[in-house]
Amino acid sequence: MELDPRPRRLPLRRLPATTWQRQRPTWREAAPGVIEAALKRALARPSGNWFVLAASREVRRDRPFGRVVAGTEIVAWRDAEGALRAAPGACPHLGAPLCRGAVADGRLVCRWHGLALDGGGFPGWTPFPAHDDGVLAWVRLDGAGGEEPLPRPVVPERPRGAGAIAAVESLAGRCAPEDVVANRLDPWHGSWFHPYSFVGLRVTEIPSGADPDPDRLVAEVAFKVAGRWGVPVRAAFECPDPRTVVMRIIEGEGRGSVVETHATPLGVRGGVPSTAVIEAAVAASDRPGFALARRAAPVVRPLMRAAARRLWRDDLAYAERRYLLRTTGRWPG
Ligand code: FES
Ligand SMILES: [Fe+2]
Repeated sequence: MELDPRPRRLPLRRLPATTWQRQRPTWREAAPGVIEAALKRALARPSGNWFVLAASREVRRDRPFGRVVAGTEIVAWRDAEGALRAAPGACPHLGAPLCRGAVADGRLVCRWHGLALDGGGFPGWTPFPAHDDGVLAWVRLDGAGGEEPLPRPVVPERPRGAGAIAAVESLAGRCAPEDVVANRLDPWHGSWFHPYSFVGLRVTEIPSGADPDPDRLVAEVAFKVAGRWGVPVRAAFECPDPRTVVMRIIEGEGRGSVVETHATPLGVRGGVPSTAVIEAAVAASDRPGFALARRAAPVVRPLMRAAARRLWRDDLAYAERRYLLRTTGRWPG
């Protein structure tokens, strides 16, 4: 697929007529060893014990937010300045769920007997380090992470400024974070498994040891818009930390836009782990029409989220299967 460098009024291109069966098989290139090696390198990166907790906008000023992360019950809220706070989710008085409480004057108030808590802590209740990067809320869990703590999470570089639109979608599946990451490090399945979204996906660069940038994974693909119309782009994949895969558009419409897939372990139930996929799409474009889209952000955002949901429903089914196969000795090879 040729990428046309000339700016055009509309990014849409008519895609070559093909059928699902007649596209080129990618299984030979999608070598299990290449995917596995990329996964191994990702898992070896430091996270500094930071976990993505939620979308920034999910943690509001007027009520607390609760989620179990890596088996730890967390409550998050905003203090009087609007800063993100996170702490253990059980009330230090008699264990009530603090996420069912209220936020008043930046303090977290337990609904059971009215204990008001703030970022300063309370005997038996020590807040966790938290970080709000403007798109995502992070929490640092040194007990669960078991790594050398870092003062800040590894936040991927994103398109900056008021021109960008961010949308975050979360889903959960019965698998480990590495199953989500492994699935994302296999871009080859794009137009075979998701023909409703991708056409003509071709991986043009794969990670190789001799390369100065051994983790470079680049694909050309057209995002399907409607019928035979789509938007061709070139995208690079990278793992900044062991639970994150970033896809960055490096050429074509929306250059600089990123889709960050964060796999957050939730906990283990009945011996099976559960993992949240928290995916942040931060889109940017130099195109004048994009300013319009930005004003329409409240409309565009749900559309971006709906697209992510459909892909992740399918991808999570595979990640769950990958978990099952590898934990029951049925993984191929
Ligand atoms: S359980 Fe929270 S104040 Fe009593
Ligand atoms: Fe996928």
